[in-house]
Amino acid sequence: MSTEKIIASRPDKKIYVEDGKVIKLFDENYSKSDILNEALNQSRVEDTGIKAPHILEVKKIDGKWAIIMEYIPGKTLAQLMQEEPEKEDEYLEKFVELQMYVHTFRSPLLNKLRDKMDRKIEQTELDSSTKFELHTRLSGMMPRAKVCHGDFNPSNIIVTPEGEYYIVDWAHVTQGNAGADVARTYLLFVLAGKQEFAEKYVNLFCEKTGMPRKYIQSWLPIVAASQSVKGKPEERETLIQWASVAEYI
Ligand SMILES: Nc1ncnc2c1ncn2[C@@H]1O[C@H](COP(=O)(O)OP(=O)(O)O)[C@@H](O)[C@H]1O
Ligand SMILES: [Mg+2]
Repeated sequence: MSTEKIIASRPDKKIYVEDGKVIKLFDENYSKSDILNEALNQSRVEDTGIKAPHILEVKKIDGKWAIIMEYIPGKTLAQLMQEEPEKEDEYLEKFVELQMYVHTFRSPLLNKLRDKMDRKIEQTELDSSTKFELHTRLSGMMPRAKVCHGDFNPSNIIVTPEGEYYIVDWAHVTQGNAGADVARTYLLFVLAGKQEFAEKYVNLFCEKTGMPRKYIQSWLPIVAASQSVKGKPEERETLIQWASVAEYI
């Protein structure tokens, strides 16, 4: 008899292990194309050789769409950071290195970050002149084609008992500018109330890569605008403000 072990439960999806495989089960409010898009994105990432769980199946379970993938045993980096606060700096260093590792890959068939940002800016509730500013800012960015996870945060990293690191949750992956990916991670930390940690993260990324802080800063309004579209209602006001002004970090 198969047993089902829940590993994460969200209002609109459930992630559990069954027969040694992970089932990511989505509610009816997800469209078929949402699920196929997430699976295709993950599959493209799999093709690059990035350390990520391989997709095994996409199917319907009791009328709901599900993505079946390899189970990566271990703890998330978020869990480890919480359990071992004395090792936070060490884990942050590993976190930054992993994000840099992802940015070294190329996957020409992935959706383009620039197209996605243009589309998201249009979907915001910003006034038309702010939207225009953001589109203009975006079009002035250097063209880049790096794999950008799009939701790179410690809960999407699994550390195995052997100490190997795997990256999960590829629903938002695109190809584009690393600066945008870093700006999003920074924003996620700030929204989670970890301002100090966010600063430490950006400083370390800049130190390790030589990326100017100003460059990451220049992506923030665009990233905040895009995040405001699907963001939680209590975060929306802050994000809209961030999308509307020029100076941040
Ligand atoms: N293949 C996997 N193996 C082991 N654990 C996983 C796997 N995929 C997801 N998880 C766990 O489930 C959690 C939620 O999955 P995730 O794909 O990140 O969903 P969400 O989009 O809701 O964040 C992750 O943070 C991780 O702890
Ligand atoms: Mg996740």
